[in-house]
Amino acid sequence: MSSHLLREAPTIDRYPRSNTYDPQWIVDNLMGPHPLWSAEALLQVMTLRPGMRVLDLGCGTALTSVFLAREYDVEVWATDLWVDPTENWERITAAGAADQVHPIRSDAHTMPFSHSFFDAIVSIGAYNYFGTGAEYLGYCTEFLRPNGLIGVIVPGIRDTPGGPLPSYLTDRWGTDMCTWLSPDWWRQHWERTGLVTVETADMVPQGWLHWLETCARVGRGYEPDENMLRADNDTHLGLTRLVARLS
Ligand SMILES: C[S@@+](CC[C@H](N)C(=O)[O-])C[C@H]1O[C@@H](n2cnc3c(N)ncnc32)[C@H](O)[C@@H]1O
Repeated sequence: MSSHLLREAPTIDRYPRSNTYDPQWIVDNLMGPHPLWSAEALLQVMTLRPGMRVLDLGCGTALTSVFLAREYDVEVWATDLWVDPTENWERITAAGAADQVHPIRSDAHTMPFSHSFFDAIVSIGAYNYFGTGAEYLGYCTEFLRPNGLIGVIVPGIRDTPGGPLPSYLTDRWGTDMCTWLSPDWWRQHWERTGLVTVETADMVPQGWLHWLETCARVGRGYEPDENMLRADNDTHLGLTRLVARLS
């Protein structure tokens, strides 16, 4: 897709806050579907108040951490496993968010925080890597205060296709795709713990397009996903959005 078409793409209108950020900064640093569009889609159904302590879980290059701090005036612990926290600190400082964003390297299963410390947990494009196990929600919400919120955006599927999978899915197949799950799957998975009340479990409106536009914009290495998404044509694939409140 040319930059001209991308500028005109309808997704743009849905994310006015994200679209004030330098597109090159985002393209150079993103690790999945446009993280700022995803964060903004989440914050359209999840409220963060100024001064809240927020865990950005699986923050990657901390773009979302900077965005949350700047746009919602919260304090963010930018926590990730693969990305060097020193690199994140340089990005955070360069973005003028050093007073509000703290980079941390941690595995999501062994976090160094105090119990009940956070007002909210946000996880963009990462929770499916570590959160599909039955006990994980119980573990990570130990770090959330009572009545705190957890909000997640992950690659997802509207429903499991009946019969054999379409060839565009089998052509791209990898075990990562076993973690692309539906809003109903996640709702049940979380509700059966008895720990939270699920407030939202849906597909991000135009999430398929948002994901496709990201692949087209970035190019490098994203062509198989772009081909898969074009073939899907908004049938099964998109972004699953979840918000729940701790009891
Ligand atoms: C696809 S990237 C998304 C990063 C970022 N949120 C974004 O949207 O650009 C997935 C992230 O999940 C993180 N991750 C995967 N497994 C993890 C684990 N066990 N603990 C903490 N982070 C993990 C990786 O470090 C990676 O940065």
